[in-house]
Amino acid sequence: MTSYIEAHEFSGALLAWYDRHGRSLPFRGTKDPYRIWLSEIMLQQTRTASVGAYYERFLAAFPDVFSLAAAKEEEVLKMWEGLGYYSRARNLHQAARVIAAEYKGRFPADYDALRALPGVGPYTAAAVASIAFDLPEPAVDGNLTRVLTRALGIREDASLPSVRRRITEEARARMPRTRRGDFNQALMDLGATVCVPGTPDCEKCPLRALCDAYDNGDPENLPVLPRKTPPITLRYAVLLVLWEGRVYMKKRGEGLLNGLYVYMMTEEEPEAALRRLGIEGGGLTPMGEARHVFTHRVWDMDIYLCEARTVPDALRNDFYTRAEMEALPIPTAMRAARRALTEYWEKTS
Ligand code: ADE
Repeated sequence: MTSYIEAHEFSGALLAWYDRHGRSLPFRGTKDPYRIWLSEIMLQQTRTASVGAYYERFLAAFPDVFSLAAAKEEEVLKMWEGLGYYSRARNLHQAARVIAAEYKGRFPADYDALRALPGVGPYTAAAVASIAFDLPEPAVDGNLTRVLTRALGIREDASLPSVRRRITEEARARMPRTRRGDFNQALMDLGATVCVPGTPDCEKCPLRALCDAYDNGDPENLPVLPRKTPPITLRYAVLLVLWEGRVYMKKRGEGLLNGLYVYMMTEEEPEAALRRLGIEGGGLTPMGEARHVFTHRVWDMDIYLCEARTVPDALRNDFYTRAEMEALPIPTAMRAARRALTEYWEKTS
């Protein structure tokens, strides 16, 4: 581990740098745990630059934990539209209900209690605990991992639980007595702007004098991480099936995009899928192609439009007017199809 003097040097250099070069971000400058929690959930898989507008819009709709707890799930998903990883929104909603019901709306100033909330993992619990409550919990994300493995010369697989634990404890040992939230956020900012993946900008780094990888000349090789498995590509026909001025949409179940609405999607030939469902008429007009990249999946989509003459009774409730469609949560993967449909509606109305 580290000596008190080393720890003090580390946190001192880091915080002095943060005071001058830390990023001014829309979700900073608050001590409200609700806001901090919301921003950290949004930031889990979405880049800092993209989060700002979503964050403001979400807070305008749900300004506190009670308003979020009282919302319908579909309203919450709608406000999450475009951010992706929608299970985050469902967990957020569940957690708000727990905070409202069990904690009278007050977030617990306790790592384990935060960690027990739906959607709150070790990283998020530590971020909220440190930023909102100044608790000494290192928020171990990709940035902190990169900075610490380089600074301390940790050359083992950083995805291993034992190595993660070591990184957490090394970070904790260097935390100052106050400003623990700033300490974490300084490491995030340093990792995002200076100690970046690939070749870092060591000349600008406040930790250079203490950095093992700098001395050793190998920061670009750290952290050591296992190879990622490549995503699987699926090919779909996306069918904009119109009937009496409405469009067919289906709410997705368990799995990818659970709870979101998509147009008709099939891996079959589009004609075969329509025939199998008993949808008649119209013909198919190609409306373009789109690709959407998820973490473990790629969807390659051919978009078609079909004006149906008849649809079976069993499907009639799955057709939505334009206004109804616009109120539904629709994933970004459907953006090209949705735009094609909107343009078609503009032209034909
Ligand atoms: N990424 C996730 N949380 C962050 C924060 N609080 N500041 C900067 N980057 C972040």
